[in-house]
Amino acid sequence: MADRPWWKEGVIYQIYPRSFADSNGDGVGDLRGIISKLDHLRGGEGSLGVDAIWLSPFYPSPMADFGYDVSDFTGVHELFGTMDDFDALVAEAHGRGMRVVIDWVPNHTSDRHPWFVASSSSRDDPKRDWYVWRDPADDGGPPNNWSSAFSAVGPAWTLDEATSQYYLHSFMAEQPDLNWDNPEVEAAMHDTLRFWLDRGVDGFRIDVAHKIGKDPELSDNPADIDESTAHEPERRHDEDWDSGHERLRSIRKLVDEYDDRMIVGEVYLLDQQTLSDYINTGDELNLAHNFVFLHQPWNASAFRDTVEQLEGLITPLAWPAWFLNNHDHSRVATRYAEAGNGAARARTAALMTLTLRGTVFLFQGEELGLEDVEVPSDQVVDVDGRDPERCPIPWEPPSAAGAGAGFSNGEPWLPMTTDAERVNARVQSEDPGSTLSFYRRLIAYRKATPALQMGSWRAVAAGDDIFAYVREAGGERLLIALNFTSEVAHLDGRPAGLDGAARAELSTDPGRDGDEILLHDIELRPDEGVVIRLP
Ligand code: NOJ
Repeated sequence: MADRPWWKEGVIYQIYPRSFADSNGDGVGDLRGIISKLDHLRGGEGSLGVDAIWLSPFYPSPMADFGYDVSDFTGVHELFGTMDDFDALVAEAHGRGMRVVIDWVPNHTSDRHPWFVASSSSRDDPKRDWYVWRDPADDGGPPNNWSSAFSAVGPAWTLDEATSQYYLHSFMAEQPDLNWDNPEVEAAMHDTLRFWLDRGVDGFRIDVAHKIGKDPELSDNPADIDESTAHEPERRHDEDWDSGHERLRSIRKLVDEYDDRMIVGEVYLLDQQTLSDYINTGDELNLAHNFVFLHQPWNASAFRDTVEQLEGLITPLAWPAWFLNNHDHSRVATRYAEAGNGAARARTAALMTLTLRGTVFLFQGEELGLEDVEVPSDQVVDVDGRDPERCPIPWEPPSAAGAGAGFSNGEPWLPMTTDAERVNARVQSEDPGSTLSFYRRLIAYRKATPALQMGSWRAVAAGDDIFAYVREAGGERLLIALNFTSEVAHLDGRPAGLDGAARAELSTDPGRDGDEILLHDIELRPDEGVVIRLP
């Protein structure tokens, strides 16, 4: 199996622990809550059948950025439980044949992390150089023009009055950037990886993996950054520096000392050429989250061009990864919705993601067709507008389980969807026409179909309304056709040499499964996606 590692065929399910399941009624999800819902993911009757979970941060944290401000890289926040709970979660997941991937946040710490407390205590502290400190510019302002990724934060620098220097923070002021140019920082962060590998975790999702290499000269960024083109020559100086690649190589080497592990990077670079540099040599990241894909408009050509470009850019050493939802972005069912078709488009989006060549990442709740939840202004908690996609998971109908919909017996930290009576795991489990039942069928089908797991991929000419492609392995040939319009659309199969009759094996419209399809004129229903087995 050495050449087919588990994560290549895998479907990896992201859990945002605060919003998944709350076992103790404090309104915030926790590790015991996750354990109680593992049957939903794998092993239970009618479970989703995912291969791994990725846990967003559960570390001790002041929660300025809801866990992405870590104050202890080797602990568990008491809100989420204990280290024993974590070990139990790993054992329970492994017992069901599921891997556990955890979030690792190497670019920054919390400002309450003991390292930063020491570093900011004086200019002479031995940990001063563990973070990025600089004198003010001549006018007393920040040392350069770098901005925080959060527009509400503004400059990426905050003046520490006590020591009269600025420190760098690519995100909130409560998240000072570590100085990866200091080998002591690199060594200390490597130790945190070993800690979790020794505890049995199967991999890491590396938060802002492209940010651990920055221009050590701290030169200004170009005034107008075009995020969608390769970074040379007008490149940014606050990320994607060559040193970052070297550092990821060292991380990969360390992780590869352990069997069967995987690292996936959040490489938030909106240019697929630059993105592929992180996976193409085979000795950096195993996988890179592709935000170019996530940022496409609901348009067949846009997705076709993106997938075709990535497929053309990557080497045989690299493996694609696809996702359309996470805790930082509006959910697909909302983002792509027009005139009430969000649910239908979300199914077609899922069919696309789960039939492309590569590893798939799902975000909790998408299997229910969950939409963004409107958060009243007095309940907004996130600095960057991301509360709507982080609202809690409805497990049961409120009529049976109360207002917390099986997520919590207390007051959820973010509002529950007002649709919970219909959009919940219990009700959808029992309905073969539900989005949850569709995801189950789709994941099971993918698992049973070698062409989808490891087959080749090639686009088929299909006009502007339909994105179509063929997956092929060992004589098995599948045509996937996705209608990006909300009207009936036709795919003329003849240009691709398709003729005769075939079978629709799986459609976003359950009424269509098993239908005979005439390949010279494939008719797709509005917003429909379908997998057709070719003769
Ligand atoms: C990316 C994470 O996904 C996001 O939630 C977080 O705010 C930033 N990195 C900073 O850690």
